[in-house]
Amino acid sequence: MAEHLTVVDHPLVQHKLTLMRDKGTSTAEFRRLLREITQLLAYEVTRDLPLTTTPVETPMEDMEAPILAGKKLALVSILRAGNGMLDGVLELVPSARVGFVGLYRDEETLKPVQYYFKAPESLNDRMVIAVDPMLATGNSSVAAIDLLKEAGATDIRFLCLLAAPEGVARMKEAHPDVSIVTASLDRELNEKGYIMPGLGDAGDRMFGTK
Ligand code: URA
Repeated sequence: MAEHLTVVDHPLVQHKLTLMRDKGTSTAEFRRLLREITQLLAYEVTRDLPLTTTPVETPMEDMEAPILAGKKLALVSILRAGNGMLDGVLELVPSARVGFVGLYRDEETLKPVQYYFKAPESLNDRMVIAVDPMLATGNSSVAAIDLLKEAGATDIRFLCLLAAPEGVARMKEAHPDVSIVTASLDRELNEKGYIMPGLGDAGDRMFGTK
């Protein structure tokens, strides 16, 4: 992917995002919308998956037809909110391997603290898509990508629903090779590290924990 940041401005993405931002949207609806919007974003982030060809016998004649090449892609959820994006990607790429990075944000320092890491094998041979709905300060995203690189990943993309300019800049500085796909680049972070106008706490909204 050439661009460091891609904002997907497709009308369906923008419409669904507006519904997700609405504080009156229910937990069930929020989850459903996140799954649907992630499918649309996944279409964009997988745009340059490598292809080869395979012989196929159609009812009419034989042909060489395109098919995905190489190892299955690795999808890595940054816990816990990343889990809300897994199903949307897996509906498009059902054979993807799935990993998890557990980081929580210290509410005082806003710095990430690692508590879990499990990644598919041979990360160096796979396209790796890290998912987290909110690219806010970028601290946890940068830390997650650090871990994936330490585990061998070389082709990493970051898929999120909303990005703050601060998070995009932090990612660009730390990981200029990692392209970001998002539905919106919002205005700014507030003093607590929340994206403005944003949609609030994505984990709380999708899991109904507040
Ligand atoms: N995480 C969230 O869930 N929301 C924000 O606005 C920022 C980080």
